[in-house]
Amino acid sequence: MLKIGIIGCGKIAEVRHAPEYDENPECELVAYYDVNPERSQLLADQFGGRVYDSVEALLASGVDAVSVCVANNMHAAVSVQALDAGVHVLCEKPMATTPEGCREMVDASERAGKRLMIGLNQRFAKAHARAKEILDSGELGTVISFRTNFCHPGPEGWTGKLDTWFFDRRIATFGVMADLGVHKTDLIHYLTGQSVVATTAVLGTLDKKMPDGSPVTVDDNAFAIYTMETGAIGTMHVSWTDYGSEDNSTRIYCTGGVLRLYDDPEYSLIVETPDGVERFALDQLTSNKEQTSGGRTATGVIDAFVESILTDSPSIADGTSAVHAMDVIFANQLSSELGRSVRLAEEA
Ligand SMILES: NC(=O)c1ccc[n+]([C@@H]2O[C@H](COP(=O)([O-])OP(=O)(O)OC[C@H]3O[C@@H](n4cnc5c(N)ncnc54)[C@H](O)[C@@H]3O)[C@@H](O)[C@H]2O)c1
Repeated sequence: MLKIGIIGCGKIAEVRHAPEYDENPECELVAYYDVNPERSQLLADQFGGRVYDSVEALLASGVDAVSVCVANNMHAAVSVQALDAGVHVLCEKPMATTPEGCREMVDASERAGKRLMIGLNQRFAKAHARAKEILDSGELGTVISFRTNFCHPGPEGWTGKLDTWFFDRRIATFGVMADLGVHKTDLIHYLTGQSVVATTAVLGTLDKKMPDGSPVTVDDNAFAIYTMETGAIGTMHVSWTDYGSEDNSTRIYCTGGVLRLYDDPEYSLIVETPDGVERFALDQLTSNKEQTSGGRTATGVIDAFVESILTDSPSIADGTSAVHAMDVIFANQLSSELGRSVRLAEEA
């Protein structure tokens, strides 16, 4: 039985990590740490286990693995500390706030011989997994272009705080481009089996305000045009200002037809070809809305992490693949600052 600790006991720990560990028969939640001890105590009361008063004390308690669910600016430091202590790490996205931080995490994992996984849960959604099988089979030919969107009303609804740290550049470092864009960039890498080789991006702060009326200090909308290795081209729009129904959809346009993913309220996967249309109701993506409605969709991330430890093999959201998506996010920031296209080699 794997002994699990959680470092950072906020919203994502409460609604995804802790319940999914609790449901996995191969592991036991035994340890929690948060700079705010009330948060760690709440999880211990609900799921069992002990509260510790420092990261060091938690890591010395005999845990096999930890989830790192702190704010963005501490992901790399806490993950490296845990790996150096010989503990497997599942770190939330965005992986780290600098390219060096991402690579230090991978290096620490290799040095320690311990698993490093990043919470890129879009890879585990059923329609995405099926789409990957279809694309890999070649039955739709090759990818010509795509568009992928991730737009919701913003993180203040998720955290329940109008002045959430997600809006504070000193803690979040990034805005929506990294917060939501890393999910969709990674998804495009995963589905197409190709890397983004060039990007033209624009990041903007268009509407989000702090409670005092001042604009937030990070981007609330971001747009990118991606060129892939084969020359396929696609767009990504991520937004924290979709005040209607959320848009978490992707379309992949291939030589033999079109894949529509989470693009229809009823059918999570639609395959359109010149011969006809096939519709599949596989699942719904995890969303911020379900947290307020009381429902919960398992992400599959925790089960994959536990399995990757038990089998000593990389999961499909291993740290090494997450670095590539982060490199594109850093290139998007550079492109927006420079006002021109950026090739990924420039960023590396
Ligand atoms: N995979 C996803 O789709 C997804 C969704 C939401 C959030 N996230 C990520 O999860 C992380 C946490 O987000 P959240 O929504 O839970 O935020 P949150 O503010 O609800 O929780 C963060 C917690 O970390 C604690 N904390 C901060 N610094 C700490 C430190 N140095 N040591 C210990 N505890 C510390 C805070 O007190 C807080 O309880 C973020 O990086 C976010 O991007 C991922």
